[in-house]
Amino acid sequence: MKNATRPGAVCPTPRAPVIPAGPPNPFRADTVPSVETGAHECHYISTLADWEESASVRRAPRRVPCPEEVGTRDFFPLEQVPIAQHPIVRNLGPDAVRYLQVQRLYAYQASTARLERAVVNPVVLRIAEGRLGLPVSRTMRRDADKIYTDEARHAQFAYDLTDLVEAATGIEPVVVGEPRFLTQLRRQLDRTPVAYQPLVPLCYTIVSETLISATLAKIPRDTRVVTAVREQVADHARDEGHHHRYFVQVMHGVWPALSGAERALLGPLLADFIDWFLEPDLSSMQTALSQLGLEPETANQILHESYPPTQRAADMREAAARTLRLFEQTGVFDDTRTYEAFVGKGLLG
Ligand SMILES: [Fe+2]
Ligand SMILES: [Fe+2]
Repeated sequence: MKNATRPGAVCPTPRAPVIPAGPPNPFRADTVPSVETGAHECHYISTLADWEESASVRRAPRRVPCPEEVGTRDFFPLEQVPIAQHPIVRNLGPDAVRYLQVQRLYAYQASTARLERAVVNPVVLRIAEGRLGLPVSRTMRRDADKIYTDEARHAQFAYDLTDLVEAATGIEPVVVGEPRFLTQLRRQLDRTPVAYQPLVPLCYTIVSETLISATLAKIPRDTRVVTAVREQVADHARDEGHHHRYFVQVMHGVWPALSGAERALLGPLLADFIDWFLEPDLSSMQTALSQLGLEPETANQILHESYPPTQRAADMREAAARTLRLFEQTGVFDDTRTYEAFVGKGLLG
């Protein structure tokens, strides 16, 4: 980052301290003073002022599946489990379809929990502790504390619901490794110059916190789905609405404060991050298909035919619409290589 006084920084003000010159690694600059003056307070609009009343961790009860719904409702919407609609799977009968819906729920919950714990919360903690490398107001830091608590709760209730569904259905989650986005993020960190590495999880968090996945958007309204699942996703979606508005402000502060070199490096990566975040979790689906007794070639055929690339690009554009607007507003696409990276992913153009 250059300095915190550029237009559009989180709290641009003549009194903001300039981040010390030197290696461009503001996120490691633990010595950067935090700023909690009244002058800074006015630039951040709290998105979590009613947190005590609205946060799921403060108000939502434990979501337990009703025994009457276990055999009659879906655990995940069928259209969000394309492999379960494939003719080969349908020929295996309704239990196979249901098995894949339940596995899709487990995979969604596990990937959500890992995202919250491994990526989002470490970034939120940096903000809460004043280690973002930009002057951040006291209110913004306290709101980061609330988000940290929210995300911890989201991870905890993801695993809790998984256990409850397993107990109710008798279907064990298939064992898979870490979610693919974590592997991709680690590889990206290995390829990124050390000085820029802290910016990678920050930008990934901005992407993941401003996107609205089809799961979060659609399940709460889907009356075919087990009530406990709908309510748990609704609890999460409500919290994420507040987080979305918070990270919009983070993006408006961070992007203009980056140096040209940082923007050139990170801009094209933002397109990758959207892609990784929305990428279907094929490894868990492949394992689930093999548990149904299907040969690897048949499982691959089902996966290939269930996720046509054209549909995927359309789904990504829909889910990323608000994030793309945010990037437009913050000037992300001013860089030609970045713009082309988004076009290459089918997100623009
Ligand atoms: Fe969350
Ligand atoms: Fe969040």
